[in-house]
Amino acid sequence: METRFLLRLRDHHVLFGLVIWATLVLPSLSISVRSCSFPAMFNFGDSNSDTGGLSAAFGQAPYPNGETYFHTPSGRYSDGRLLIDFIAESLRLPHLSAFLDSVGSNFSHGANFATAGSTIRPPNTTISQSGVSPISLDVQLVQFLDFLTRSQIYKKKGEVFGKLLPKKEYFSQALYTFDIGQNDLTAGYKLNLTTEQVKAYVPDVLSQLSNTIKIVYEQGGRSFWIHNTGPLGCLPYVLDRFLINRAQIDKYGCADQFNEVAQYFNQRLKEALLHLKKDLPLAAITYVDVYSVKRALITQTKKYGFGNPLVACCGHGGKYNYNRYVKCGTKKTINGNETVIAKSCNDPTVRINWDGVHYTEAANKWIFQEIVNGSFSDPPKPLKMACLRNRMDH
Ligand SMILES: *[C@@H]1O[C@H](CO)[C@@H](O)[C@H](O)[C@H]1NC(C)=O
Ligand SMILES: *[C@@H]1O[C@H](CO)[C@@H](O)[C@H](O)[C@H]1NC(C)=O
Ligand SMILES: *[C@@H]1O[C@H](CO)[C@@H](O)[C@H](O)[C@H]1NC(C)=O
Ligand SMILES: *[C@@H]1O[C@H](CO)[C@@H](O)[C@H](O)[C@H]1NC(C)=O
Ligand SMILES: *[C@@H]1O[C@H](CO)[C@@H](O)[C@H](O)[C@H]1NC(C)=O
Repeated sequence: METRFLLRLRDHHVLFGLVIWATLVLPSLSISVRSCSFPAMFNFGDSNSDTGGLSAAFGQAPYPNGETYFHTPSGRYSDGRLLIDFIAESLRLPHLSAFLDSVGSNFSHGANFATAGSTIRPPNTTISQSGVSPISLDVQLVQFLDFLTRSQIYKKKGEVFGKLLPKKEYFSQALYTFDIGQNDLTAGYKLNLTTEQVKAYVPDVLSQLSNTIKIVYEQGGRSFWIHNTGPLGCLPYVLDRFLINRAQIDKYGCADQFNEVAQYFNQRLKEALLHLKKDLPLAAITYVDVYSVKRALITQTKKYGFGNPLVACCGHGGKYNYNRYVKCGTKKTINGNETVIAKSCNDPTVRINWDGVHYTEAANKWIFQEIVNGSFSDPPKPLKMACLRNRMDH
């Protein structure tokens, strides 16, 4: 008798527990299994996500850029696809055309405003002086606003325009991606500023990024996927150009000081995005810690099937196979024959660094696989759920 009663009591508890569990867990479960359907993407950034902007304006990134995947220069500083390409593919969207590219572009599912060498803040130097692109984030925003207005005027004209331009509603349903900031940090070092001086202007840089996101939000943008900046101090061009004191090198060969500044930027970025979540109640903002993924790849190279993390695949000699005067694809005329003197390595698929500044397609693919499921995101949402606002946010 007694045991049966106890059993029944326990059953009751179990049932009660189940009901509670169902009420608490099921609604959030039903939300979390539904994925977003992004009909378009709009990207802002630098060379990490440039799919042809700088090439359209200032000349093609030369072969062997593009050799692995596109088999021809494709406006990307890599042997193949970039993170942004893998993101587009996984959302079943076409690769993004660069807004500046007037040849063969199709903007029906978005546009890319990124250009290699872009900074967040407007630069005070020209591209020929410092290599910094004049298409800084403020210009990219102006181009986006122009695209938003004029694409709708032209879409109404129908015919080919109808098929090449996005629908109006795509602007609010799209995924807005950002990968920019690295060049704002190196810009200071190019002016011989100290790390303290570089850190001092980071808040100004981030307030300009926040303002851009706010303006996109005012125009209807809701889903934001924002990459932080990578481990600068592990890039051959930084090691080659800015490293004066060898003592600053860590056990992996990376320059601590530059990684510290990148992490400082990332910490401030994370804080800035927390403020934005409060200011923009309808926005879904995802911070993606690309830094940690790249750092893991560079420090545990062998484990992941790669080699030579600090040596560029495509370059022209030196410790890092990087020479800033003879960049990847540089040609020289020898006895009347034009030859590429900064060539690609034998097997870019086992290399991490492509040209001293950018990652190989193989590395980009690996990084993408790490970030797509949300393991490195805050809040920890997979890419396909980046439209969902975290209820904890407000
Ligand atoms: C460019 O110069 C202006 C005026 O001196 C200054 O306010 C701004 O911060 C500078 N921008 C950069 C990127 O250094
Ligand atoms: C543009 O791309 C979309 C999606 O890939 C495609 O359906 C459409 O036909 C393309 N437009 C033209 C004019 O090629
Ligand atoms: C930075 O320092 C180097 C080496 O002293 C010098 O050659 C260069 O002109 C300086 N650059 C600027 C922008 O002051
Ligand atoms: C120039 O290139 C062609 C084709 O690769 C080769 O046959 C020729 O010998 C080269 N000429 C010189 C002077 O190197
Ligand atoms: C996300 O994917 C990576 C790489 O495939 C894997 O190592 C990691 O455990 C995954 N994380 C989650 C939370 O599924």
